[in-house]
Amino acid sequence: MSQALHPMLNIAIKAARSAGAIINRASLDLDLLRVSTKSPNDFVTEVDQAAETAIIDTLLGAYPGHGILAEESGRSRGAKDSDYLWIIDPLDGTTNFIHGFPVYAVSIALAFKGQVQQAVVYDPTRNDLFFASKGRGAFLNDKRLRVSKRIRMADSLIGTGFPFRRGDDFNRYLKMFEAVMRNCAGLRRPGAAALDLCYVAAGYTDGFFETGLSPWDMAAGSLLVTEAGGLVGNFTGDADYLYQREVVAGNPKVYAQLVQLLAPHTAIVPEEKHVVAAPAAHEITPESALADSEPVAAPVAPKRPPLRIRKDPEAAKNNPGSD
Ligand code: IPD
Ligand code: CA
Ligand code: CA
Repeated sequence: MSQALHPMLNIAIKAARSAGAIINRASLDLDLLRVSTKSPNDFVTEVDQAAETAIIDTLLGAYPGHGILAEESGRSRGAKDSDYLWIIDPLDGTTNFIHGFPVYAVSIALAFKGQVQQAVVYDPTRNDLFFASKGRGAFLNDKRLRVSKRIRMADSLIGTGFPFRRGDDFNRYLKMFEAVMRNCAGLRRPGAAALDLCYVAAGYTDGFFETGLSPWDMAAGSLLVTEAGGLVGNFTGDADYLYQREVVAGNPKVYAQLVQLLAPHTAIVPEEKHVVAAPAAHEITPESALADSEPVAAPVAPKRPPLRIRKDPEAAKNNPGSD
């Protein structure tokens, strides 16, 4: 990249590299790793926590007035009223990391007034740095990224993530899996959503879909996709995906075909079909993203109507962890 990087992107890169060093050091002796379980099949290690602390220290050291939304510590650090919000996944792909399966990454995004402006996804196993600034393109190390040019779904390689938490709706996922599998050239489940999105940006895959993701899984990778010329949205093709726990990404042609296949499986209904009142946009905060269960009313970024909620709030109450 010939132009100078945005100063905030530079700080994010510094933070991601320091977290990557912690992760790489720990990967040398995985037998020493202390692993805790957040919920069945959902793990956290001391490495996730140490990496997160290093990232936040670096970011707040440079920008003490900014807000923080981080996977392990939530909003406990940083300003609560800033227009700037750093969205952090210190180690995306913890299950892979625990097993020594070398697909995991550090993901850091900066949103300004709800719009992601800067993004870094750092893969410490390959020393691969994916980064993007809004309006200035997406890069892998010094190489400009473009999404693939494949047009036909039948030729496309699609990334996905499997549901794995208690309460996840496997049957719903299996229907989507079948719909996509029957129409594409191959499906892959690498196991780190931030990288899955970067792989779309790099053209390694032509599209990606997953349910149950949190904003820290998607924020940085999504900017990589759009800056590489791709599209990202929810299953019905709307841009309100960050807090909605369903995401589709792809080059523009494959994205459109994925939306066609996945729209029937959306857990979101249009505003006119709401069965309970949706909150006003100003009531929607990143805190909602910290709740373990899927929010009944999905938060959306400000100024992005229409508001949407789950199809069946009763079912959501009875099955709080479900997609
Ligand atoms: C997980 C990974 C995985 C996805 C999960 C995420 P974590 O993140 O991104 O690919 O399927 O839903 O939770 O927990 O390893 O940071
Ligand atoms: Ca993650
Ligand atoms: Ca994580």
